[in-house]
Amino acid sequence: MKRIRVNLRDRSYGVNIGSGILAQTGSWLKTRGLAGRLVVITNPVVRSLYAEALERSLAGEGFTALDFLEVPDGEEQKSLETAGRLYLEMERCLAERMTPVVALGGGVIGDLAGFVAATYKRGVPLVHIPTTLLAQVDSSIGGKVAVDHGQLKNEIGVFYQPWLVISDIATLKTLDAKTLGDGLAEVIKYGVIRDRGLLAYLEANLARIKAFDEPVLEKIVSRSVEIKAEIVSRDEYDLRGLRAILNYGHTIGHAIESVSGFQVGHGEAVAIGMLAAARISRQMGILGRRELGRLESLLEKVGLPTRIPDLEVESLVSAMQHDKKVSGGKVRFVLPRELGRVFITDDVDLSLVRQVLAD
Ligand code: NAD
Ligand code: GLY
Repeated sequence: MKRIRVNLRDRSYGVNIGSGILAQTGSWLKTRGLAGRLVVITNPVVRSLYAEALERSLAGEGFTALDFLEVPDGEEQKSLETAGRLYLEMERCLAERMTPVVALGGGVIGDLAGFVAATYKRGVPLVHIPTTLLAQVDSSIGGKVAVDHGQLKNEIGVFYQPWLVISDIATLKTLDAKTLGDGLAEVIKYGVIRDRGLLAYLEANLARIKAFDEPVLEKIVSRSVEIKAEIVSRDEYDLRGLRAILNYGHTIGHAIESVSGFQVGHGEAVAIGMLAAARISRQMGILGRRELGRLESLLEKVGLPTRIPDLEVESLVSAMQHDKKVSGGKVRFVLPRELGRVFITDDVDLSLVRQVLAD
């Protein structure tokens, strides 16, 4: 098992990563001073797979009142309406200021339950138990919690750090190939922004990853979490121009998601966005041809798309201009200098963006 610390002074916390560690949840929560009543927010898919093991662990450590609040599967549940329903259910469960909320599920559950934990009675303790690769490497780390509202995706939210993150690698075994691929897109992102060694590791171990080899998965989750923890520790509130590098691939990616009416999934859109940003950098004479080819080939081997589906270039550009990554009216891009090193710029000529999208 590996334990990585997210250093944020009095809001610091550990991320425990290992296989079968769900069974230790009760004792870890007790060590953090939590006891008695507890609320688990999850969805029916994850509940049917993992609630029993979690319940056993918590009951074994004396957590007496355990309420499971279920949210149907799907991004559309990340809403103020669902949050509103959960507040009322928490009240019915007699949840108090120190009643922890445990988010058991993927990024949708983590973001929604995190938002509820941050706002119910002005904040109750939050514990993330992420069960998708994306949630283990990205959404459970760093405290961004949010719901969607109208066209505002992830824009109604706050920074609210959890008390603890428990990433049980064994839970990844039940993921389908597409959901695994969504997570791998984010792992590739960490490689491009910070660690070309991680890309080499992915290239060498792809077959083992697809076969859910636990030590290999533990390694890629741990390295990704180390990278995100370091970035978040230095720029928690995304104000210093460092945390923004985590948006590599997301400027164009979010536009693709939004213009496609969310028919193109997040991981797929980010994969296309990462390659498009790399092409922009190549066209600007920065990224080398071989580096670009290596990235494209890795995305293809993972099974992620590298071509934009049939979407209007102008609609994509317009969506980018309305995105939250716009600063002072300019579209902000994270571009690779080389694999493992990126820079942020709002000085990309939109005609170049149009050309890359059209190509
Ligand atoms: P998700 O939560 O919708 O999960 C994907 C699917 O996998 C769902 O159908 C879910 O029921 C199922 N599932 C979850 N765990 C499973 C398991 N162990 N076995 C089998 N099936 C399982 O999607 P996601 O990709 O985990 O998260 C996407 C969300 O994360 C988006 O809303 C995105 O905005 C958000 N996100 C947030 C951050 C952040 O920093 N807060 C970062 C990245 C993404
Ligand atoms: N997922 C981007 C961030 O946490 O900043």
